[in-house]
Amino acid sequence: MSRVKDELQLGCIRLRMIPVLDDNFIYLLDDGEKAILIDAGDAKPVLEIVRTESLTLLQTLITHDHADHTAGCHVLQKELGVLARSPGVIERDEEWLGCRCEVVSTPGHMKVHKSFYFPELSLVFTGDALINGACGRLLGGTASELFRSLQWMASLPGETRVFGGHDYLLENLRFATALEFSVSAVERRRQQYKSNPMMALFATVEEERKTNPFLSCASAVEFAALRARKDCF
Ligand SMILES: [Fe+2]
Repeated sequence: MSRVKDELQLGCIRLRMIPVLDDNFIYLLDDGEKAILIDAGDAKPVLEIVRTESLTLLQTLITHDHADHTAGCHVLQKELGVLARSPGVIERDEEWLGCRCEVVSTPGHMKVHKSFYFPELSLVFTGDALINGACGRLLGGTASELFRSLQWMASLPGETRVFGGHDYLLENLRFATALEFSVSAVERRRQQYKSNPMMALFATVEEERKTNPFLSCASAVEFAALRARKDCF
């Protein structure tokens, strides 16, 4: 699997997509002085960046309590004194780096799962709820919960770029192809992955609506059946 390591400049905010572990991503947002981190599967690359660039890491926001999203928290606390925020205690919208951060409960993958939506930056961090072209498994939450969480994500402005917790894109597109779902759009995204993997992986909500069969489900029952089918795919 290729590993996408890249960044986006959004006005004075830089977003870095940092591949960690086998196929996870963590995300670092900074304004040149201060930074926040979304998920922390591994501390090492974060420590390298913040020390090299003399950034002050203000906060680690956690989407959900799976080890591949939290394993670096202890080291970040020890080395930088930065406490990670458990998803269970982040309840209200916040402001980070001068940008509004809407904290949205998006259960289903787990009972407690948060997504972080930055409307002014047109970014949403979706953890293991919406993951490039598909969605996470049901590992504690219900199909109805995940269906509703995905419906919220699909309702965001089309230009919003989606940052899930993993790189599962090719496997997910293979599933969409097996369903004969949106054949030309899915193939286009597959080709884009070869030429511009970052844009294919971190597609917009509009592109997700076209290529993600889980967003097209009309009901929680339909969604549950599709999720069960992918579990065996
Ligand atoms: Fe997870």
